[in-house]
Amino acid sequence: MSTSFIDFRSDTVTKPTKEMRQAMFDAEVGDDVYGDDLTVIKLQDMAAQLFGKEAALFVPSGTMGNLICVMNHCGQFGSEMILGDLNHIHLFEQGGCATLGRVHSRVAPTQPDGTILLKDIEERIRMVTDDHFPQTKLVCLENTHNRMGGKILTLEYIQSVGQLCKQYGLKLHMDGARLMNAAVALDVDPAQLIECCDSASICLSKGLAAPVGSIILGTKEFILQAKRLRKVLGGGMRQAGVLAAAGIISLTQMPKLLKLDHQNAKLLAEGLAKIPGCEINPENDVQTNIVYFDLNPNKVKIDLQTIAGIFKQEHGILMSASGKWKARLVIHYMITKENIEYFLEQFKNILEKNQI
Ligand SMILES: Cc1ncc(COP(=O)(O)O)c(C=O)c1O
Repeated sequence: MSTSFIDFRSDTVTKPTKEMRQAMFDAEVGDDVYGDDLTVIKLQDMAAQLFGKEAALFVPSGTMGNLICVMNHCGQFGSEMILGDLNHIHLFEQGGCATLGRVHSRVAPTQPDGTILLKDIEERIRMVTDDHFPQTKLVCLENTHNRMGGKILTLEYIQSVGQLCKQYGLKLHMDGARLMNAAVALDVDPAQLIECCDSASICLSKGLAAPVGSIILGTKEFILQAKRLRKVLGGGMRQAGVLAAAGIISLTQMPKLLKLDHQNAKLLAEGLAKIPGCEINPENDVQTNIVYFDLNPNKVKIDLQTIAGIFKQEHGILMSASGKWKARLVIHYMITKENIEYFLEQFKNILEKNQI
């Protein structure tokens, strides 16, 4: 896709910064399957330190990071994990935990704030030795919560789930694809947000703008086993230092830009809220860089899929409609305040012409 598009589809579309490209060019590399790549080692050490875990592993994607962690925790035949019905792992990772990991998903309703109620988790725990049932080994949370519009799980909530897991001897995994967005928005150390988690997966290639890669975190023993799982899943990379070099900049330079992304997302939401036919509550609905909104089909006679088509053809804007009347716009460092103002102007124009 040409660089001239303003791309609201996702923060996965971010391209590596100039500094990243230079660092990639200069990176010292080696065969990482042999453990020879000094840049990968540097990234992993830096991530372990930053997120307060014993060890870290560089993996090709968030999907693989989650799968490796789930398989690692639920190694035993007949295991299950408890997670929200709208969690990325459950909705958007092709059921990999079942098909490849042989782990059963026991889902609980995801609340509008991205949490799962403690009582819903507790009710689903199956510790019994009865041969009818899988045995619960793991609980998975997601922070920020993608499908719930970038909602932040608070430290208190995560700790309460951690406590429950401890009580029942369960492991806790955090799908922290956008954990840095949560840490920046809450103004807390990211390590604190996963202190009570046994593992976490953090994406470098979303708002943090690396071209490829995620980091998984855990104890030294957990990461040693994760490295074996990464290999069997085909994720062992050779001269991966060219990618890790960008990841180092993701961790050192990019987090400070996320605050601006969040401000821009709020600006966008506030602008949308003023357009007749558009439904969004900027105060409650937008906490980080993701903006979900609805169009009211009783007030406007054009749907979001049609608008997305027109915007692409005529205005150089890419957006994804989730059905006819709901859309998700995602802010990242390549979207400026001026881009948002331009989007709002075009959006207002098209809706004004299509009021019922
Ligand atoms: C919350 C969450 N977890 C995991 C992933 C998967 O990451 P990847 O696309 O790198 O596989 C995504 C991707 O959008 C995500 O939003």
